[in-house]
Amino acid sequence: MIDIAIKKDYALDDTLIVATLNEGKVKEINQLLKGRVPNIISGSEANLDDVEETGVTFHENAALKAVAAVKATGEISLADDSGLAVEALNGDPGIYSARWAEDENGNRDFYKAMDLIWDKIKDKDDHKAYFITVLALAFPDGHIDYIEGRVYGTIVYPPRGDNGFGYDPIFQPDGETRTIAEMTTDEKQNISHRSKAIKEFINKWC
Ligand code: IMP
Repeated sequence: MIDIAIKKDYALDDTLIVATLNEGKVKEINQLLKGRVPNIISGSEANLDDVEETGVTFHENAALKAVAAVKATGEISLADDSGLAVEALNGDPGIYSARWAEDENGNRDFYKAMDLIWDKIKDKDDHKAYFITVLALAFPDGHIDYIEGRVYGTIVYPPRGDNGFGYDPIFQPDGETRTIAEMTTDEKQNISHRSKAIKEFINKWC
């Protein structure tokens, strides 16, 4: 648990920048934080530039994005770095989840990336995987708080469902018969890695 004195020093009683340009993430984060933080501003509303993810861990990349947003806006900023970790691939694509979908022009095709994953694991017995989110909450004085959330499941193929984004169509959470892309936004919010992390963030900070 966070020190009560620290929580008091860093109250989230005004503006929070949700430092991501991924509209899928903005939508999920805003839905959970609505009414809990007075003024939520998205990365595109704050005119944030894309940040190059040069870190080698989810924590480093989340911090890079949150700190860049604090520097650009002067406001407390929340960033997430997330991805899909496939056990038979030693955690890949992991921090490279978005990059596995990119072509040479930087355009993303997640169906190509999902095919690639399936190609690499189809002959293996273990199809277990998890989605992970690491949130970094960065303050103007340099303080950073980290929160992690995970959801465990299995890679299925072919992809199923049109909801969500990224790798949702090939990820079937444990105890489910549907992929995340076959669930409604509310159903995803009940179980997802990002919502688990945001709910812990709310417990800690709101
Ligand atoms: P980031 O923007 O560097 O955090 O990239 C995360 C990438 O991981 C996204 O572009 C997606 O490909 C994947 N990812 C993260 N969260 C999710 C999710 O909730 N569903 C599906 N894919 C996700």
